[in-house]
Amino acid sequence: MEQQLKQLQTEALTQIETAADLKQLNDVRVAYLGKKGPVTEVLKGMGKLSAEERPKMGALANEVRGAIASAIEAKQTTLEQQAIQEQLAKETVDITLPGRPVKTGNHHPLTRVVEEIEDLFIGMGYSVAEGPEVEKDYYNFEALNLPKGHPARDMQDSFYITEDILLRTHTSPVQARTMEKNTEKGPVKIICPGKVFRRDNDDATHSHQFMQIEGLAVDENISMGDLKGTLETFMKKVFGEDREIRLRPSFFPFTEPSVEVDVSCMCGGKGCNICKHTGWIEVLGAGMVHPNVLEMAGYDSEKYTGFAFGIGAERIAMLKYGIDDIRLFYTDDLRFLKQFSVHE
Ligand code: DAH
Repeated sequence: MEQQLKQLQTEALTQIETAADLKQLNDVRVAYLGKKGPVTEVLKGMGKLSAEERPKMGALANEVRGAIASAIEAKQTTLEQQAIQEQLAKETVDITLPGRPVKTGNHHPLTRVVEEIEDLFIGMGYSVAEGPEVEKDYYNFEALNLPKGHPARDMQDSFYITEDILLRTHTSPVQARTMEKNTEKGPVKIICPGKVFRRDNDDATHSHQFMQIEGLAVDENISMGDLKGTLETFMKKVFGEDREIRLRPSFFPFTEPSVEVDVSCMCGGKGCNICKHTGWIEVLGAGMVHPNVLEMAGYDSEKYTGFAFGIGAERIAMLKYGIDDIRLFYTDDLRFLKQFSVHE
């Protein structure tokens, strides 16, 4: 029996030694130490032994069990450590791999132009005003000296929602709203960028939705000279110090006198396709605020005068960046938009 027990121990220890993973080790545990295992089996033969031999064999059986149990425990610790090491090796982060580039957006070219112009005017003491895109006929036309039935309303084909409500055709209604809101009826200096809408067929130079930037300055003693000086600063800032402006007489119902403003072409007057060989490019409409507009907003037109201007943001961006189709601003073509990325 002693022989058998020693034999079992040797067998078990070899199997423990060669167990490749925790599962195999557990199988060895179940096989040798389980209730129906070989050690128990051998001990069943104890009845045949003499009284002195029995306790000896009992002690030896316990020793064998103990030896097997501690060998299993030791092996288990080794295998567990191994498993952890293997997992760590598998999960090692390769810090030499290049990172994935993070895609960042950038400002739309129109936003850029608008913000640049806003900054310039804020620097000259203007504040930025806003008004509704769905506007009352009253502010879009009437308060700007364009009564119902006035022929000049045809200059701007409109999207009407009801008889009295329309999508604003220009940012000029913000002039009327701002002056009306000003309870002190004192000086006003605002710039107002915003979307406007007209019933136009879209093509390279027309869009049914576009952006305007309106300007308004009202105070005592504002003159045409102030308008010209302001616009000259504006144009030089946007297009370059070497640019000049010129004013041509024009007509807008809300200004008197009214002017069309041209900026000198980048060809320097030699003549090119952009200026159609005239050396000048038309960029905006402006004028001295009509006394009727001041009076309708509650201002004393004997005391106050003002100038106003309205400019197409797309037109400025097109001239500044050499863009030849207004639809590019609204079709979200990434090949176009990416050219304005500050990151590349
Ligand atoms: N509202 C005009 C338009 O959309 C542009 C304009 C012209 C605005 C003269 C003004 C101005 O404030 O004084 O065509």
